[in-house]
Amino acid sequence: MNAVPRAELRDLDPYQSPQPPVSVRLNTNESPHAPSDAFREELADAARRVALNRYPDREAEALREALARHTGHPVEGIWAANGSNEVIEQLLLAHGGPGRTVVVFEPTYALHRRLSWIAHSPVDSVPLSEPWRIGSEHVERALAADPRVVFVCSPNNPTGNAQPVTVVQRLASASEALVVVDEAYIEFGGESALPLVREHPNVVVVRTFSKAFGLAGARIGYCLAAPEVVEDLRRVRLPYHLSALTQAAGLVALRHADEAGAILTEIRAQRNRLVAEIRAMGAETFASEANFVLFRPPKPAPEVWRGLLERGVLVRDMTEAVPGCLRVTAGTRAEVDRFLEALAEVLR
Ligand SMILES: Cc1ncc(COP(=O)(O)O)c(C=O)c1O
Repeated sequence: MNAVPRAELRDLDPYQSPQPPVSVRLNTNESPHAPSDAFREELADAARRVALNRYPDREAEALREALARHTGHPVEGIWAANGSNEVIEQLLLAHGGPGRTVVVFEPTYALHRRLSWIAHSPVDSVPLSEPWRIGSEHVERALAADPRVVFVCSPNNPTGNAQPVTVVQRLASASEALVVVDEAYIEFGGESALPLVREHPNVVVVRTFSKAFGLAGARIGYCLAAPEVVEDLRRVRLPYHLSALTQAAGLVALRHADEAGAILTEIRAQRNRLVAEIRAMGAETFASEANFVLFRPPKPAPEVWRGLLERGVLVRDMTEAVPGCLRVTAGTRAEVDRFLEALAEVLR
């Protein structure tokens, strides 16, 4: 007999974005800069010293203490997991569930909706229109849904705009919902909601090492929250969820945080260059505070996406979320050169 999975599971495609072998990959907002040789040496050293026959520190104490020094947030309010996706999943396991509504302001990061569904939570979407700024009318619509969890993504993926911190404040003070502020791109721009966490214990800031730290492959994310939120995460996490190797990598990354900071200026410069040059080609572009740019080419987006791919450049087709739009990550100068040349050819 075939086992029958939960209702609607098979309506859902596995999460994926195309990963064809191309020379210029600008589709997943990774950092184009690999960690330094010094970083790699230190990581190899740290890996050699890891006691792999033992389970890792369940509390990831050393990593959380280093994060406390890095962020200025108290260690009891810090939690780390395998990428910010896992942190978000754990927050939903603790605060979502049947009958416990999650609100998302869309278009936004698709995993907020997907992980809510995985955690059996009903999702209520508040649609935003260009330029996708959350205003008081959207906040009121969110509150009317009587949510248990509200996601605010700032800077927002895929649109690139940052949201006003006052929106988070209003949501947190007018409801008992957990307000999850996804700050995956905060190092590139926008104002952090972190100062609100002390005053509003229902605000959680989620961050990642995947973007500005250039460590998407290491899978490290964390959140900054009230101590009781972290206590509840301990109740839903898997035992020993964060491997000793991951914890070691996070510690080395924080020792090299200055190197990560030093490349932000270059990435922002390539982002701003993308906005200006794509616009000069007659496409509509949207201002970005992140490490990517959303744009609407003057030809059908899927056709432009294919044209770029044929020239060895991979970007993200966002047409399902934002009609007619593609999203391109700010790469190295050489990668951006290649993208702009290919785009000029495709639009000619
Ligand atoms: C807004 C947002 N949040 C979270 C993530 C996931 O990051 P991580 O690699 O930490 O799971 C991404 C990745 O693209 C993202 O865009």
